Amino acid sequence: MDDSAGNDRASVEFKVTADDRVLWESGVMKQGDPAKAVDLDLRGARTLILQVTDAGDGVDYDHANWADARFLVSGTRPQTMDRPVPAEAPVILTPGPGPAPRINGPLVYGCRPGNPFLYRIPTQGQWPMRFSAQDLPTRLQLDAREGIVTGTAPPRGQFVSGDLLALPPPTGWNHWYTHYDRITDRLMREAADVMVASGMADVGYQYVNIDDCWMFAPKHSDPLRVGALRNEQGEIRPNGHFPDMKALTAYVHSKGLKAGIYTSLGPLTCGGFAGSHGHEAQDAKTFADWGFDFRKYDWCSYGDIAKDDPAPELEKFKKPYALMGRLLREQSRDIVLNLCQYGMGKVWEWGAEVGGHSWRTAGDLGFELDRIFDVALANAKHAEWQRPGAWNDPDYIQIEYIGAAHGMGLPQPCPLTPNEQYSFMSLWSLMASPLFFSGDMGRLDEFTINVLCNAEVIEVNQDPLGRCARVVPLTGASFAMVKDLADGSKAVGLFNRAETTTVVAASLEQLGLAGIWRSRDLWRQVDLGRLQTRVSDRIGRHGAFMIRLWPEP
Ligand code: GAL
Repeated sequence: MDDSAGNDRASVEFKVTADDRVLWESGVMKQGDPAKAVDLDLRGARTLILQVTDAGDGVDYDHANWADARFLVSGTRPQTMDRPVPAEAPVILTPGPGPAPRINGPLVYGCRPGNPFLYRIPTQGQWPMRFSAQDLPTRLQLDAREGIVTGTAPPRGQFVSGDLLALPPPTGWNHWYTHYDRITDRLMREAADVMVASGMADVGYQYVNIDDCWMFAPKHSDPLRVGALRNEQGEIRPNGHFPDMKALTAYVHSKGLKAGIYTSLGPLTCGGFAGSHGHEAQDAKTFADWGFDFRKYDWCSYGDIAKDDPAPELEKFKKPYALMGRLLREQSRDIVLNLCQYGMGKVWEWGAEVGGHSWRTAGDLGFELDRIFDVALANAKHAEWQRPGAWNDPDYIQIEYIGAAHGMGLPQPCPLTPNEQYSFMSLWSLMASPLFFSGDMGRLDEFTINVLCNAEVIEVNQDPLGRCARVVPLTGASFAMVKDLADGSKAVGLFNRAETTTVVAASLEQLGLAGIWRSRDLWRQVDLGRLQTRVSDRIGRHGAFMIRLWPEP
């Protein structure tokens, strides 16, 4: 790191890759760190890449030097490549849905006895269609044209009526990474419209979730967002961009979709808007009265309160979430609770115990988009804590148009290549992670719809067993993931982390699979025939190959 960087925020990481092998990584280097000497044997390498990244915190003040760098060459003189990252065409792998009706998952769905019930049956095919159902519980009705089931959830023990919600990982859209503090009622309604019109709802996307900045803030550049945080009764107030929350949720519900909302534990959210501290019970009731079905509950500004609490560290983490878990259960609505505290105190070990249905396992992925593989692999380490109704959450799917996390930028084409976008969706599906798209619903293109809406890939995510895939390291920079599915089949992903196209191969033995298997390419939706020795594919830089295997008798 160059001394001229002149700031503690300067941090970079150096990396040397030859073909599919990472030869050297410096680790994070900060200003003042001594230089590291490196001398590498490059014999036989065809492609060499010297890379410097921002170490995940943006490029501010970063100034890196490959000091005194030399190549010792014999034979043909090497040539520089035109571009460090070859441009990739956004190839559409998935065929569009056919005309025949196909009911997509989830196969199971949790609800609480006696609460309002709402479920849109995700169905692909040629609309209009006609739906009918046998043995529907008595207090439920099915809209035959829309395929939306409404009414009152059946008594405990009938179907999957009981204590558990979010039996499959929750799915939908969250506004954060596109609209940040620009979110409005109009944009939320547009998201609901597009979720249906684009076909996202037909493959199971369900929640339309508001993140931060819908409340009032003590100060903000937009005058419609500045005002008293609460009314005289102490009730939280939506800001000038949200004229009527009840009308908004009613609109979302009219499409058979569900609505989510956000607050923080502390007095102010991370965006500087009204938080729930001191008004927990009141807010739980308000959100239920408004008709919300999902609540993201963020740690923001609670640190100041927790520091004065004499309770042991772990109790400090659990207490505010346990309170909200209890308060939400007391409402006469099904409200899914998403804990957002970045993995502190090993939240995966106790998130379910305090009433959470999912919990973020790390900080904001928007700051680490160049590390989706590392973030996914770290998340997959907590596999054993995950089960139906209790999910590890590695944050949102950020593809298509998103705003830079640093500075809450306006939506721009995302920095991920097409291959990386396929990997993103494959990883999240194999890990059974909550699937929330956070790009711009107003700009969905054919490529993005193909990445987001492959019914067979999503089926892997929504599988009723709820398992997170096992990670199998392979040679070089590649790895595999293997996920057990409820019908005895397996979903397998191969991932190429190398900087160039590589053949990635894994023997069935390496994958822990014995016997003969019938296989299907999930992204292309084509049968591949029988397999009995190994899985392999030629995979582009940072790309994925995903198949499903069924045991042959
Ligand atoms: C962060 C959270 C983000 C987003 C943001 C809003 O703490 O991790 O997902 O909700 O707050 O200010």
